[in-house]
Order: sequence, then C-alpha cells, then structure tokens
Amino acid sequence: MTQQRSLMKVLSGEAVWPPPVWFMRQAGRYLPEYRAVRADAGSFLDLCYTPKFAVEVTLQPIRRFGFDASILFSDILVVPHALGRDVRFEVGEGPRLDPISEADLSSLNVGRIASHLAPVFETVSTLRARLPAETTLLGFCGAPWTVATYMIAGRGTDDQGPAKHWAYAKPEALDRLMDILVEASVDYLCRQLDAGADAVQLFDTWAGSLDVRAFERFVVGPTQRIVAGVRARKPGAKIIGFPRGAGSRLPDFVRKTGVDAVSLDWSLDPVWAAGAVPVPTQGNLDPIRLLGSNEGIDAGVDAIMNAFRGKPHIFNLGHGITPEAPISAVERVLARVRAG
Ligand code: CP3
Repeated sequence: MTQQRSLMKVLSGEAVWPPPVWFMRQAGRYLPEYRAVRADAGSFLDLCYTPKFAVEVTLQPIRRFGFDASILFSDILVVPHALGRDVRFEVGEGPRLDPISEADLSSLNVGRIASHLAPVFETVSTLRARLPAETTLLGFCGAPWTVATYMIAGRGTDDQGPAKHWAYAKPEALDRLMDILVEASVDYLCRQLDAGADAVQLFDTWAGSLDVRAFERFVVGPTQRIVAGVRARKPGAKIIGFPRGAGSRLPDFVRKTGVDAVSLDWSLDPVWAAGAVPVPTQGNLDPIRLLGSNEGIDAGVDAIMNAFRGKPHIFNLGHGITPEAPISAVERVLARVRAG
C-alpha cells in the first residue's frame, strides 16, 4: 500500500510536523493563470461544470505552490442549482438566485444531484488521476444553513436577515428546507467520495449569525445528520466542519456533530482552540494578514505554529484568500510553515 497522505494522517489524529498546508479558495483570482482560464471559460458556472477547465484551475495552485491538499474547484451554490433553482454569478457582484418562498419548497428535486452534477464527479475522478500521489484531494459542499441564506435572500447579505427571519418566524419551513439540503448534501458528498475525494469539508460560512437555540437547530442538527448520513453510506469517511463564527460553541459543535476535524476562523485564539477542541484542527491565519507587512505575516504564522506544535493540525487560512493577496505573501507563509 502507498504511504498515507500527510493530511489524512492528521485527520486520523496524528501530529505531523511541519503541518500539511493548503489555503481555502486557493484556486482563484489572486492567480494570473486562474484569471486567464476564467476569461476563456465564459460564465463562472461554465467553469465549474466543464471538467477540462475545473481540473486545470484546481491543479494551478498545486503546481505553483505544492500545497499538501487540493480542493475540488466548484461552488457551494451548485447544489441549489441542481435542485432546480436559478443561480447566476454576475461579474463583480457575486451570486444571484431567485429568492425561494415556502411554496417553492415542494418543487426542489433531490433526484437531480447525480445527473446535474455529473461533470463535477468527472472533475474529481480526473483530478485524482492527475494529482501527485502525496496530495490529498478534498471535496466539499456548503452546510445547509449557509446554502439556505443564499437561497432565501437570493444573494449574499450583510446580516443573513431574510434567512434569520425564517429561523425565528417560521422555523418549520426552514426545517423542511434543511431536510432537503441534508439529503442532497449527503448524496453529493458520497458521490464525490466515490469519484476519488479523500475527505470532504462542509463550509458553514454564516454559522455565527444565529443565536444559540437556532444554532443548535439549523447548524448543529443538519451537520450531525449529514455526518451520520455520509458515514452510513461511506463508513470511515473523513469530514471537516467549518462553522465560521461559532466561537465558544465550537467544542460542543464538534462533540454533537461527530466531525473528524474543524477549520478555525481567524477570530479564534489558537492557544484556546489547541486546548479546548477535542479533534484535529485546521486554520487559522487571517487572510488579510497576507496584504500587510512581512513582520505581520510572520507573527501571525508563528502564533499558530507555536499553539499547535505537537498537535494534529493542518495549516490554513481562517477564511478564503482574497483576490488582492500577493503571490509573494503566499510564498512567504509556505516557507515559514515548512521550516517548522
Ligand atoms: O477553495 C477553493 O479553492 C475551492 C473553490 C470554492 C469556491 N467557492 C470558488 C469560487 C469554494 C470551496 C467555494 C465555497 C463558497 N462559495 C462559500 C463558502 C466559503 C466562503 O468562502 O465563505 C460561499 C459562501 C460561496 C458562495 C460564493 N461564491 C460567493 C459569495 C461568491 C462571490 C464572492 C467572490 O469571491 O467573488 C462566489 C464566487 C466564487 N466561488 C469565486 C470562486 C473562485 C469567485 C468567482 C470568480 O472567479 O469570478
């Protein structure tokens, strides 16, 4: 058998040092080679649904930086698209969807995941064949709460107000949407694992916007059901949670959901997380540090490295890299992490 990939060792609880490293949104607009393919592909969804292009942009950051993990290039909003919602990405404006109403819930079609997302599964299997043997391949999907915030508002919002209104004023309707998204996500993630993904990450970017009661119902509950549903079909599947903004609720989230590891946003104190979180962690450099001075970058990296030395940890950013990030800053972080 070939040697286990370093990131997979960490997900099994082993402390690997220096830690494996990858960056959320590592394929993206900060790379000139991404912008070139993006221009050729036409729309953003065409980029996600054309294996030739999606494979190429996924491999770009691996070729340039040799990250230890590669993350499938796609978007969390391909799931509502597969369910039958209209999804568009307008240049410079972010995603636009037709806001869903309660009456629309019965029209969502979970049976279309396999056929609509077939090109994504082809991308995953092509990637596994083309990636270096030592590189972990991560699949992903959005967690139901975060996907619902875009489906309900029809766009990104500052406060997730429209979806929070459902959470507090008509929670039964939101439960129905969560159930549909849980079923779709389980199927989507299992098919990514079948196609060759080594592990999967659940992005819950807006987890922190709910109060404790609603967090339990719409973040913890659906995540727990996805973890259980994926494991029922794929025993031993490794799942990384990322409930951004969960703060002090993180240890409880981990215990209740059963995720194998968690990604830490930049607001968390790494020293606290190293002691309080009972599973391997990933994170948590503030992506905005990459736009600052070398001293600021080094201080941010060192604080994380010192906190997690001797623990199972994956070095990463605390959220996606921004389009403004200089390539030299990425190189600096990698050199410092790899020096241990
Ligand atoms: O990490 C990776 O490299 C994999 C690819 C990936 C993308 N989106 C590509 C993308 C992943 C994992 C995502 C997840 C995603 N998408 C999330 C959760 C994580 C997070 O960043 O909060 C969310 C909330 C979305 C929804 C989304 N997609 C928004 C709000 C936007 C617009 C914001 C922006 O950066 O433009 C997108 C578009 C998007 N998804 C881009 C990329 C590279 C930029 C689009 C472009 O190139 O024109």
